[in-house]
Amino acid sequence: MKIDNILIKIIQDSRGEETLKAIMRSGDIEVSSSVPRGKSTGEKEVFLRDTRTAVRKFELIKERLLGIGFKDLNDFDGFLLELDGTKNKNLLGGNLILVLSQAFCRLAAKTEGIELWQYLERYLSTKGKRKPPLFFFNLINGGKHAPFGPKIQEYMIVPQVDGPKVSLETAKIFFAGLKEYFKKEFGKNKFGDEGGLLFPGEDYENPLEIFEEIRDKLNLQNKVKFALDAAASSFYDENKEKYLLLEDKAVSKKELLEIYKKLISRFEILSIEDPFEEKDFESFGELAALKALKKTKTIVIGDDLTATNFELLEQAIKMKAVNGVIIKPTQVGTVSETLKTINLATENKIKIIVSHRSAETDDDFIADLAWASNAWGLKAGAPQPEERMVKYNRIIQISNAKS
Ligand code: PGA
Ligand code: ZN
Repeated sequence: MKIDNILIKIIQDSRGEETLKAIMRSGDIEVSSSVPRGKSTGEKEVFLRDTRTAVRKFELIKERLLGIGFKDLNDFDGFLLELDGTKNKNLLGGNLILVLSQAFCRLAAKTEGIELWQYLERYLSTKGKRKPPLFFFNLINGGKHAPFGPKIQEYMIVPQVDGPKVSLETAKIFFAGLKEYFKKEFGKNKFGDEGGLLFPGEDYENPLEIFEEIRDKLNLQNKVKFALDAAASSFYDENKEKYLLLEDKAVSKKELLEIYKKLISRFEILSIEDPFEEKDFESFGELAALKALKKTKTIVIGDDLTATNFELLEQAIKMKAVNGVIIKPTQVGTVSETLKTINLATENKIKIIVSHRSAETDDDFIADLAWASNAWGLKAGAPQPEERMVKYNRIIQISNAKS
């Protein structure tokens, strides 16, 4: 495919900060794509350029991308990686490379007259009929996504119902009940970065107790499970080698493990993401190996631990550190590398959750990615802000078209 023109624009993300949007044209077909940005970013993530510099860097390489034929996505991404020439995408920046890579996929799909997920599917080893992913709705925002609240970053619900449409409806009902509860108990509703509620206080158990109360009140027993993203690197003190779970309570990794064990035995927790800091593969493995977790079938998920990186996921698999993995194209910086990591997960029966970032745009690329990779889950925040809803709705749309 030959690209005739590319524009890079600076747009605002949901946090009101600058991010990149690419508009790409071949003949009379034009597409666009934009990239999100995280806040609880792991150290292993690819280097990102500030947007102004990214635009300048782009102007320097633009002409080299136009008018030549690219065989496929690997060819295009490979060309960009060669132009960058660094291991960590330090020259062009992962955000610039990814926005081009995503736009290329959209352009190639549209040129061929196929859906984006159909295009992505070609590069994936997943075979057979796709099932819609479970939706992970982040309803209480803590950690770095909130000005106050528990250190655990995300309290999610995962509807266990038939199909994505009912899942979204269930989440909306649950969230309405939760908002009403919060308003009554804590006053005016306040929201965090991913559209979930802000919880006043650092108690890490109480949000789960409230979830249970809402679930029972709405008669949703058996219809929703809960999930946590501790994002534990964000409250880990490297010098003390302790986790600052509460203001006046620093806990060791052993103590933290016991705390998780208790939470899991007490609440219906389907999965727990980044329970320990991002270098501690061993503790992840210890948690995953607990009998108690095997009993409840709770999945241990790597996010900052694995950073959508092939080698890191390989290491996690070898060390039996996780049985699920977060996939975020922004962590690695190209679509083709993302797909390679997904294949590694699939081949090793590691569950895949495709995820948004805390600052998002209206791009629904990750929904097609989740569908194509037959992901176990899609994590896209609360069922309310528009930039989150487009992702859930895109899955519903694909799913409807398929049935
Ligand atoms: P981030 O958080 O997008 O701010 O990195 C999301 C997550 O940790 O899953
Ligand atoms: Zn996470």
